[in-house]
Parts: sequence; C-alpha cells; structure tokens
Amino acid sequence: MTQDSDASIFRKRFSCRSYTAEPVSRETVTTLLEAARWAPNSGNLQPWRFVVVTNAGMRAGLAAAAYGQSFLATAPLVVTICAVPEESARRYGDRGRELYCLQDTAAAAQNLLLAATQEGLASCWVGAFDETRVAEILDVPVGWRPVALIAVGYAAGQPSQRSRRPVGSITVWKI
Ligand SMILES: Cc1cc2nc3c(=O)[nH]c(=O)nc-3n(C[C@H](O)[C@H](O)[C@H](O)COP(=O)(O)O)c2cc1C
Repeated sequence: MTQDSDASIFRKRFSCRSYTAEPVSRETVTTLLEAARWAPNSGNLQPWRFVVVTNAGMRAGLAAAAYGQSFLATAPLVVTICAVPEESARRYGDRGRELYCLQDTAAAAQNLLLAATQEGLASCWVGAFDETRVAEILDVPVGWRPVALIAVGYAAGQPSQRSRRPVGSITVWKI
C-alpha cells in the first residue's frame, strides 16, 4: 500500500471535532500509550509524560483552557502530552530544552494519533491552549510542560474535504 492510497493509515487519520459518548476502553488507551512510547526520541531520553483524562469536569476545564474548543469536553478521552525540558537539557543543553524535547513529544503524539486510527478511533491534536491553566487543571509536577492535548473518541461525523500541497511544490531535490 502506498502512502498516498486513500486506504493508508496516513490518509484515514483526520482531525475530528465531533465525538460520540462511547468511552474508550482502558485496554485501548494502553495500546495508544504503547505506540506513543515507541516513538523515536533524542538520545532515547524519553522526556515525555502522558496525562490520561476521562473525568468530565477536567475535560470541560481543558476545553476552557483551550479557548473554548468544546470538543475537548465531549471527546471521552483527552491525553495531554507533556515534555520535561530539563531532562533533555541535562544532556543536550539549550537544543535539548528548546527543540529536542518538543520534537520527541511531537513524534509520540503522531504515533498516538496513528495508533488511534488503527484502532478505529478518531482524534484531534490541539495545540492552542493556555499552558499554565492546563498545568494547573491537571496538577502536573513542576517541570512538565503541556505540549499537546489529544482528543480521542469515536467519530460522530465524517471528515470534511481536506487537501495537501502537492509534493512537487514543497520539495527540492538535490541530485
Ligand atoms: C501543532 C498542532 C496544533 C494544532 N492545534 C489545533 C487546535 O488547537 N485546534 C484544532 O481544532 N486543531 C488543531 N490542530 C489540527 C490541525 O488543524 C489539522 O491537523 C490540520 O488542519 C490538517 O487537518 P487534518 O489533521 O484533518 O489532516 C493542530 C495540529 C497540530 C499538528
């Protein structure tokens, strides 16, 4: 199967903003977290932490902290992916603190999204939120930086029409 096939996992994944109330089983959540932790990461330091939220009040709080993105409250599961910048900085200095730990958590997030797709779930990566508020709501330890809120659940609707720039317009070959 090529990467461009409509049936590929890359094409099936889409940002879902409408979910049914059906919960995600604990076993499935574990499958998603397993996928996340096998992401590539700088020096295998694994400077990531995952906060699994099913609590309705907290999901509502996260939606408010994400400037009213209400689907975070209706999705049955929100996984907050945090980076621990100082763990990366200890070995890699500023580059670890400011770049690698964020790349590591992004790779984990993408693994989680694709695993969710494989499990028949829908998801949405949310990056627009007040980090301080999210850290307070989740009561995360000092030093954990919330990087992404990942809404997960069963899709209530179909994906809207999506497009991407053609490969030729975003690629430079040096042969
Ligand atoms: C770093 C990042 C931040 C994002 N933040 C938000 C967000 O705050 N709210 C939202 O609805 N979607 C958010 N998205 C999802 C994008 O809008 C979405 O991936 C993009 O429009 C392409 O659509 P697709 O995921 O359906 O292919 C974010 C995605 C990324 C990677």
